[in-house]
Amino acid sequence: MTAAPRPWALLAELTHGCPLHCPYCSNPLELVRRSRELSTAEWAEVLRQAGELGVVHTHLSGGEPLLRGDLAEIVTAAESAGIYTQLVTSGVGLDGARLATLTAAGLRSVQLSVQHADPAASDRIAGHRSYAAKERAAALVRAAGLPLGINVVLHRDNLDALDAIIRRGLDWGADRIELANTQFYGWALRNRDALLPTRDQLARARDTVQRWRDRLGGATDLVWVVPDYFDGVAKPCMGGWGAVSLTVAPDGTVLPCPAAASLPDLDPPSVRDHPLEWIWDHSGAFSRYRGEEWMREPCRTCSRRAADFGGCRCQAYALTGDAARTDPACALSPDHGVIRALTTGTGQPAGADTPAPTGGYAYRKPGG
Ligand code: SF4
Ligand code: FES
Repeated sequence: MTAAPRPWALLAELTHGCPLHCPYCSNPLELVRRSRELSTAEWAEVLRQAGELGVVHTHLSGGEPLLRGDLAEIVTAAESAGIYTQLVTSGVGLDGARLATLTAAGLRSVQLSVQHADPAASDRIAGHRSYAAKERAAALVRAAGLPLGINVVLHRDNLDALDAIIRRGLDWGADRIELANTQFYGWALRNRDALLPTRDQLARARDTVQRWRDRLGGATDLVWVVPDYFDGVAKPCMGGWGAVSLTVAPDGTVLPCPAAASLPDLDPPSVRDHPLEWIWDHSGAFSRYRGEEWMREPCRTCSRRAADFGGCRCQAYALTGDAARTDPACALSPDHGVIRALTTGTGQPAGADTPAPTGGYAYRKPGG
C-alpha cells in the first residue's frame, strides 16, 4: 500500500455560531452547539499536530470565528506551529482593537464575505443587518496593511449585480475577489430551488468577469469558482479525497471535506479520540475515497480521473444516494440527467432571459 500524501491545508471551523443566516451556507443542517466546541487548549493541540503533519495554511472559519473570545490565542497557536492563518469572516464583530490583537498574534490575511453591492439586498440575503459592518471591516483590514480578500457566493439573487459587486470590492481595496458560484451542500442544498441561476444569468456573469479581467490586467485577482451544475464537467473537489486538505469541525470531528458530515456511514473520527496523524493515515473515513481504487465506471477507466478524481463524493451522495457513484455533474455520469433536469426545470425555461422571482429562503439557523 502506498503511503498517504501529506496535507498542506486545514479548514478550522472554530464555531457554527454566526450572526448571519445566509441561505447558501454549506454548513450542515445540524449545526454543532456552542457547548460542544473544542476548548482553546484543544484547538492549540490540533494546530500543533497539524503543523507536524505538514499543514502550512489554515482558514480560521465557521460560522463566524470572531464569536470565539479566544481567537487570538488560536492564531498564536497556529503561528507557533508554523501555519499561515487567514481569517474567514462576515466582518460583524471586528473593530480596530480586535484586529490589532489578532495581527499582533500573527494573523496574516482576512477574507470578508459580501452578499451584494446594494446594502439592503446584502442584508436581506444575509438575514441580518451587516453590510455597514462589512464596509467598516474592509477599511480596518486595509488600514492594518493586511491582504484583503472578498468572497461573494453567487446565485440567482445577485448574479445580475456582478458588475457592481466587483466595483465595490475594488473600492474597498480588495487584493482578491472570489466569485464563488453556489456549491449545493448543507443549507445551500436545502435552498437550491431559490438559488439556482439561469444559464443566461451565468453567461452574462462570465462576460462581466472577462471584461473586468481585461480591464484590470491582473492587478486584482478575480477568481471564478465554476457552477458545476451547468458546465457538464465535474470539479476536482478538495484536490482529491484525503489528498491535500482536512477539515476540523467545531466539536473536533475530522472530515475530508466540510460537507462530508452528510455521508451517513462515514463514521468520521474525532481529535478527542485519536491523533491527527492516525486520522489522516489510517482512519476509514480518510482512506475510503482516497486514490482511484474505489472508482467505478465510467471514472475507473476515464482519462480525466487523475485530474478531477471523479468529482465530488458529497454531491454524488446528495443526488444519487451513493457516494461512490460518478458525480452527476459530469456529462459522462449515468446520473447526469438528474442535473440536467434541475438546470432546465428551475421555474424558468433554460435560456430564459429573466430569472424567476427570488427569496423564499430557509435561512440558516440552529435546529435545522
Ligand atoms: Fe471525471 Fe469520472 Fe467524469 Fe471521467 S467519468 S470526467 S473521471 S467524473
Ligand atoms: Fe465533500 Fe466534494 S464536498 S467531496
